[in-house]
Amino acid sequence: MSIYALYPYVIRPFIFALDPEDAHSLTIKMGKILGKAPFKPLFSQKVTGQPLEIMGLKFAHPLGLAAGMDKNGDCIDYLGSLGFSHLELGTVTPKAQEGNPRPRMFRVLEAQGLINRMGFNNKGVDYLCVNLARRTFKGIIGVSIGKNETTPLEDAANDYLFCLRKVYNLCDYVAVNISCPNTKGLTALQEAEPLIALLKTLKDEQKKLASENARYVPLVVKISPDLTPVQIEAICDACVKLGIDGMSCTNTTVSREVIHGMSHASEWGGLSGKPLEALSTQVLEQVSAHLQGKIPLIGIGGISDPLSARSKLQKGASLLQIYSSFVYQGPYVIKKIVENL
Ligand SMILES: Cc1cc2nc3c(=O)[nH]c(=O)nc-3n(C[C@H](O)[C@H](O)[C@H](O)COP(=O)(O)O)c2cc1C
Repeated sequence: MSIYALYPYVIRPFIFALDPEDAHSLTIKMGKILGKAPFKPLFSQKVTGQPLEIMGLKFAHPLGLAAGMDKNGDCIDYLGSLGFSHLELGTVTPKAQEGNPRPRMFRVLEAQGLINRMGFNNKGVDYLCVNLARRTFKGIIGVSIGKNETTPLEDAANDYLFCLRKVYNLCDYVAVNISCPNTKGLTALQEAEPLIALLKTLKDEQKKLASENARYVPLVVKISPDLTPVQIEAICDACVKLGIDGMSCTNTTVSREVIHGMSHASEWGGLSGKPLEALSTQVLEQVSAHLQGKIPLIGIGGISDPLSARSKLQKGASLLQIYSSFVYQGPYVIKKIVENL
């Protein structure tokens, strides 16, 4: 039995007694230590699943870690040793930035949800690149890229380009984050005109980098669950037209309908976890119906057990990612999901 089966009884009470962001920082610090000898073999977890090939990349199974947990790549080897087939690191920006003032992360305990308004706090893309180069994890690495808070929206493409060039040779795919609700104006990049301009710039650069480096690194676009059906169709059409390699459905939601009256429901930011499941799956379904298999999909949002994972696969996802259920259930959730898919 995995030692992590005891997480809800032994580790979580301790972690949940801490402020959510302190708990997160402690986890990252511990991860840095546990990812190295002599601890790594003691704290790793063997997870066996069905291998698959998506976007030209070979995944050991469908389940990965969603962006935002290890923004700076501080504990790639530890997180990788827990059995994820892939880790999405970041979101990183060209320059380091503090993000929004604390408190900015909240637990909605009644619903196994989280609300965050971190605002792309990260140490900058160069710091992440050092960690990427040092990693020993052999699984797939995606890097989520974004823009600095101080960069005007009209110059956003330069920030994405800067990050794309930096990480291109150090990862397996790049995720374009235009759906974080906590960076002012960012989600406006999902509107057809700015989206097409941004994605075209990135695709042109990807082509150039692919020929310079003799290596094609796929581009994935991550979308919000708070889009109208018309917006969803326009984004899908733009992604198909421009040859985007994958789409992630979804980021966190600003809606509070599902957690009305629960703890911290009035905090602003993005809601994730179980209360996001239905909405994100609905968006995944719409995207899948519109794309008709033209672009592979990553299902994210409220996956917490084999049933919710299977539902995303049935609704059109090829890959899956989790964040909140990893916080609530610990590393054992990876094994529980993958080995029961
Ligand atoms: C604290 C926190 C920080 C996050 N930061 C990012 C981020 O930097 N970039 C990103 O694309 N998504 C970020 N996300 C969103 C997750 O990657 C994921 O899309 C979302 O949490 C839904 O998955 P879940 O229900 O399994 O948590 C963050 C989520 C949380 C809870």
